[in-house]
Amino acid sequence: MTLKLINGQKIVAATHNPGKAKELAALLDGRFEVLAAGALGLPEPDETETTFEGNALLKARHAADLSGEVSLADDSGMSVTALDGAPGIYSARWAGPAKDFAMAMDKVAERIEETGSEDRSAWFTCALAVAWPNGGPAVVVQGEVHGTLVFPARGDKGFGYDPIFVPGGHDQSFGEMEPAQKDAMSHRAVAFEKLKAALFE
Ligand code: IMP
Repeated sequence: MTLKLINGQKIVAATHNPGKAKELAALLDGRFEVLAAGALGLPEPDETETTFEGNALLKARHAADLSGEVSLADDSGMSVTALDGAPGIYSARWAGPAKDFAMAMDKVAERIEETGSEDRSAWFTCALAVAWPNGGPAVVVQGEVHGTLVFPARGDKGFGYDPIFVPGGHDQSFGEMEPAQKDAMSHRAVAFEKLKAALFE
């Protein structure tokens, strides 16, 4: 079965962050009417899966079943080779309830130090899931960007772990780059290209 979306169709973005809902709408080239799950009063599910794709799918299905509309969810994070992929799906949780990423980046540096490994390679992952309501079908895609970690952190333009991540083939960290430059090469951009190819073309 081929799944297609129609221009102008309503899509629920399974996020309680209005900024993220807007970003998702823009990444879909403004083709849809994007409604935020938070604004619709839908509760957030617990992210109980063990993979980015699993959690994105869980959030998309949850929003689709509660709203009765096609729903889109993402799940993302940074994985460190020397830490066997940590923080991975726990990337947001490493920063604690205060969302303290300076602390989370220190923790990454300390944990790598403890392993004694010289390997500083890492990657960002973004999984995107679109689910149709009532136990309907779903599409899941995943994008990655690989690079190297640098300590101390560099730049203040990005968010999260951006200041310690230098993408492959570049000298600046994501925190030093102009947002447009990062956005053109990020894990999120790769995932959205795959999603558009799966749903529109
Ligand atoms: P999510 O909102 O549950 O998907 O959590 C994603 C977490 O991963 C964020 O809180 C960030 O810590 C991290 N993360 C994801 N994408 C990026 C990025 O592009 N730059 C920096 N950190 C990111």
